[in-house]
Amino acid sequence: MKISNQKPFISGNWKMYKTIPEALELVKAIKGASPKLTEAELVVIPPFTILSEVAKIIEGTSVQLGAQNVFWEEKGAFTGEISPFMLKDAGCQYAVIGHSERRQYFGETNEIVNRKIKAVLAYELIPIMCIGESLEEREKEKTIEKVETQISEGLKGIGKEEISRIIIAYEPIWAIGTGLTATPAQAEEVHSFIREKLAEKYGNETASCAILLYGGSVKPANTYSLLKEKNINGALVGGASLEADSFIQITEDAIKAYKEKK
Ligand code: PGA
Repeated sequence: MKISNQKPFISGNWKMYKTIPEALELVKAIKGASPKLTEAELVVIPPFTILSEVAKIIEGTSVQLGAQNVFWEEKGAFTGEISPFMLKDAGCQYAVIGHSERRQYFGETNEIVNRKIKAVLAYELIPIMCIGESLEEREKEKTIEKVETQISEGLKGIGKEEISRIIIAYEPIWAIGTGLTATPAQAEEVHSFIREKLAEKYGNETASCAILLYGGSVKPANTYSLLKEKNINGALVGGASLEADSFIQITEDAIKAYKEKK
């Protein structure tokens, strides 16, 4: 699957929320709105238990499906893990890798992130690699250093063809689930740095096509101003993706911002 940043990319990370009936209600509402949202790439990222149910509902629509995590092996005695092969089988096109909650609570390192990215690419899933600094790192002015390390270690051994199938989400940890959002200027500073790094490694053309998402308390009130920034191509939305109305509003605002910056 080829990706492009011609449209804003809006993804909803449902985290560990939603029973099957709740998930179906939400995805049906998103599906209902999707014909008027075709100017965005729309992706829902439910918990594993709901993936195949959601896949059935969105089949034949523009809504796409992602998973929140993945293991790198195809199959085997790895109790509790889910493989890229299984995600494909459940109907996924995307897998989030290295979300800060996975790094923080489950010990995921850049090396693990790198292994997962490679495994996912081999199954033609699109990895959404998450990076971002803690509040302490920001206060000590270590943001760029942190992000640079996460990029270079997370993308170790990734070639030019592969990078064009990877999405990067910059999510400052201090902004996730806290209601604090990076200002558009703070987010843009890091996004433009990420694009520069990609340009250094893979050339300008490849870097200019990359999809760079912002995540961390994205909501209808801030989507437009974030998406107006040159290097922000979309959002990874947590809390505000759990309600259809706010997720749809975010998508509409992203479409509006994207049109105006072209
Ligand atoms: P939030 O989560 O929008 O609830 O801050 C974003 C994320 O963790 O991806």
